[in-house]
Amino acid sequence: MVYGASGHSGRLVTRRMCELGLRPVLCGRDARKVAAFAGDLDLDHRTAAITDPNALGGALRGVGVVLNAAGPFSRTAEPIADACLRAGAHYLDITAELPSIEAIARRNDEARRRKLMLMPAVGFDVVSTDCLAAHVARRLPHATRLAIAVTNLFSLSRGSAQTLLENVNRGTVRRDGGLTPLPLGSVERCFDFGHGRSAALNVSLGDLTTAYYTTGIANVETYVEATPLTRALLGACRSFGWLLDTAPAQAWLSTWSEALPMNLGSSEGRTMVVVAEAEDEAGRRVCARLRTPEAYEFTGFTAASIANRVLAGDFEPGFQTPARVYGRDFVLGFADVAREDIE
Ligand SMILES: NC(=O)c1ccc[n+]([C@@H]2O[C@H](COP(=O)([O-])OP(=O)(O)OC[C@H]3O[C@@H](n4cnc5c(N)ncnc54)[C@H](OP(=O)(O)O)[C@@H]3O)[C@@H](O)[C@H]2O)c1
Repeated sequence: MVYGASGHSGRLVTRRMCELGLRPVLCGRDARKVAAFAGDLDLDHRTAAITDPNALGGALRGVGVVLNAAGPFSRTAEPIADACLRAGAHYLDITAELPSIEAIARRNDEARRRKLMLMPAVGFDVVSTDCLAAHVARRLPHATRLAIAVTNLFSLSRGSAQTLLENVNRGTVRRDGGLTPLPLGSVERCFDFGHGRSAALNVSLGDLTTAYYTTGIANVETYVEATPLTRALLGACRSFGWLLDTAPAQAWLSTWSEALPMNLGSSEGRTMVVVAEAEDEAGRRVCARLRTPEAYEFTGFTAASIANRVLAGDFEPGFQTPARVYGRDFVLGFADVAREDIE
């Protein structure tokens, strides 16, 4: 089942699943939107609000794997993972949100007991970043520090904008295995995204948790390339994040973001670049770079591929991360993906 199937990313994932020969059941909270999209592809559909556990339980009858594409995941991940654990279905989602990944990680024991896999973040981020983190960790086995940096998105979907707005005041870093607050955009570092070294600013990507689980490296930082726009946005988060995080401001931003357009336009020819750098106590460093197709397009491929593997019985029970189960080279199996080690 794809939940949130009629959203921008839900549609991409569903279409890629169909290309793999799967026939997912489509689900969402808006019967009209889900039925229209299911009709286009001649797929079954169901309706359930995440606030209605009985309806969700009913919708999950006979379903083996759920791919949750409905974000912000702060609202949807836990209710849908709950429903999966009750119904005996594996849970996947395409979040990159740290708190929702942490919430799913806390259900590890329950999932293991039920022999179900909970794998959040099977989209561009964190599949690409997780595989690259596993790659540099393998090349430097005693690394104690890991930095991951991503180039900018070209455009944001409505769901991604809502997700960002929810997290304006939530800067975090992983130090000595724990999560510690660190204001967004307060640390600047240079990475080579393929055109010489350029500046990047700290943000709180889901990799702060997933890379820790995948590599065991206890100090993790995540960055995004510093364009004038990201500098301005992260600066605003530092100055006004506390204000934007209040209930009235969040309500206003949520209403405003509902009016954002659904269509992102063409992604043709657009690529993403990820850099990962591991360092050990002796100061040795290894660094690698990965180029992938545009983030939303690539999410369709990675999420559909992982759902397909789980359906075929290729999964590990409990909370899992993509590279831990499918290996650091998993990402290289997709078209137009290239990895290179940087000296
Ligand atoms: N990790 C990655 O690399 C990656 C890549 C792509 C997307 N994402 C994330 O995926 C999420 C969705 O993005 P998108 O591009 O598909 O956005 P979108 O086009 O706005 O679609 C969002 C979908 O989620 C549904 N939804 C939102 N809140 C819901 C709720 N409380 N209950 C039930 N359904 C809900 C929407 O339903 P309605 O149509 O009924 O409103 C819609 O189907 C975002 O959080 C985005 O950041 C992550």
